[in-house]
Amino acid sequence: MKPVGHLARRMAEIEPFHVMALLARARELEARGRSVIHMEIGEPDFPTPGPVREAGIRALREGGVFYTPAMGLPELRRAIAGYYRSRYGVEVPPSRIIVTTGASGALMLACAALVNPGNEVLLADPGYPANRHFVRVMEGVPHPVPVDAATGYQLAAGHLERHWGQRTAAALVATPSNPTGTLIPTEHLSAMAEVARERGGTLIVDEIYHGLVYEGEYTTALSFADDVFVINSFSKYFNMTGWRLGWMVVPERYVSELDKLAQNLYLAAPTPAQRAALAAFEPETLAILEARVKEFKARRDYLVPALRGLGFDIPVCRRARSTAMPAAGS
Ligand SMILES: Cc1ncc(COP(=O)(O)O)c(C=O)c1O
Repeated sequence: MKPVGHLARRMAEIEPFHVMALLARARELEARGRSVIHMEIGEPDFPTPGPVREAGIRALREGGVFYTPAMGLPELRRAIAGYYRSRYGVEVPPSRIIVTTGASGALMLACAALVNPGNEVLLADPGYPANRHFVRVMEGVPHPVPVDAATGYQLAAGHLERHWGQRTAAALVATPSNPTGTLIPTEHLSAMAEVARERGGTLIVDEIYHGLVYEGEYTTALSFADDVFVINSFSKYFNMTGWRLGWMVVPERYVSELDKLAQNLYLAAPTPAQRAALAAFEPETLAILEARVKEFKARRDYLVPALRGLGFDIPVCRRARSTAMPAAGS
């Protein structure tokens, strides 16, 4: 029988995000009373910190749950700018910050703003599996570049130089990475921004796992470049996965373009989530989050030698700069 209804050709190249099926199966087992340790999806097992939940409840009680501006609540954009100041000592004008529906919303906006049909985007392989699909739905061509332990399973400037072609528009990296948890050293990241700049392209830096780093110095790409796209989220460090809230910092000249895109594609990020997130940067919340980071570190410190004891080779952990977040599956 012929299939009924038209389906866009690109759909043949969009795979499911397989980890969601595993999660659904795990939840099904839990509903039947089984105890499940979740190592399938990159989601903290801690609940959203109390002060954030309280702020969300207050927002709902007060009732003003209307659309916010597409770029986000002005006070939340200011609070995010304040976080860059206090955490990294970096000044970011709130006008360059756009509040999004998670890092996922930011990845969609970034690809929509930067990728022409046929443009390539360089991606580390292995990497976060959804990235290639953000590129593909914009009619771009994901260009996976195999990476290994020599560069901590990350792209480096040399990869960009070798793989950047006529049609390349951008390179997208995550530091710390999913699935390996490794950081890109600041000097490497800065060299990559330089290669992208020289080629007239853009470096997109996904910093969603920032905050979940246990040793070594690291900083945001915004500390050395204002022409990169930097993505972050309330999902991981802030333990707010289900609130669907993130942000992106973009170069000044893209601000009004992204405002247009957000207005059309999703109007605004969820208002209760934005109001709740205002409490995410309060000292009380940050103290809760830092205690949780210590717990993640203790788990990592237990697991790495235990896995080695079972015969697993974990080459990048010798570098002592990694996160312990369970990685989202591929
Ligand atoms: C590297 C990376 N980027 C982006 C995301 C999307 O996260 P969210 O949309 O919840 O902020 C994830 C989720 O696991 C991720 O691992």
